[in-house]
Amino acid sequence: MNPRTIFRPLLVSLAALGISAGLYTRAQAGGGHYFPPVQDPATLAECGSCHLAYPASMLPAAAWQKMMGELNQHFGEDASLDPQTTAAITRYLMANAGDAAGSAYGRKLLRGVAVGAAPQRITTLPTWVQEHRKVPKTDWSKPEVGSKANCAACHQDAERGYFDDDN
Ligand code: HEC
Ligand code: HEC
Repeated sequence: MNPRTIFRPLLVSLAALGISAGLYTRAQAGGGHYFPPVQDPATLAECGSCHLAYPASMLPAAAWQKMMGELNQHFGEDASLDPQTTAAITRYLMANAGDAAGSAYGRKLLRGVAVGAAPQRITTLPTWVQEHRKVPKTDWSKPEVGSKANCAACHQDAERGYFDDDN
């Protein structure tokens, strides 16, 4: 069975719930933390089907390169694509990475990440952990959140690139 078909409706319904559930810690839009949303159509389609198409500026180029080389074992899912699409998405993500063209946006989030390191999760970056330290533990386990990676459950405007803290 194609894992994509199982996974997609689940995340879509989680996101839909998140919008109406009124999380106590919901992070609202308006100013502050902007990460340009993915514009490249292939990346948006292929990397936005199971979860938010995470902005390229949120990880360094080496991280995207490593991830794109291991898509057949992507966090327990097979997310592999044909070689041309893989190469095109890799180019887009690396060019716009937080230590490349996206550095104006990603620099703060990537603070504390060693040069050349390839962290595979945004949610374990030191700055991300620091920014979320006050979020109550119980919020992460709410059914409408489900995972730290489900940014849009709390950041209503995540798809437009806004991750603000004026909740
Ligand atoms: C078949 C479903 C699927 C597809 C397609 C997919 N992913 Fe994922 N991705 C996952 C799962 C599952 C996780 C782990 C989510 C969690 O921890 O809740 C994940 C996690 C991630 C994370 C880490 C999130 C964090 O915790 O900070 C990144 C970055 C990521 N994916 C990028 C991509 C990119 C880039 C693509 C496109 C090449 C892609 N994903 C396509 C299923 C998918
Ligand atoms: C359970 C809800 C929740 C989830 C899920 C969540 N966040 Fe947050 N996030 C918050 C809250 C609340 C704040 C503000 C924290 C504070 O000010 O103490 C925040 C702050 C931030 C900030 C800092 C904004 C600023 O203005 O300082 C960034 C960037 C951010 N989140 C990105 C993300 C990303 C990327 C994801 C997904 C990979 C994510 N968040 C997932 C609730 C969440």
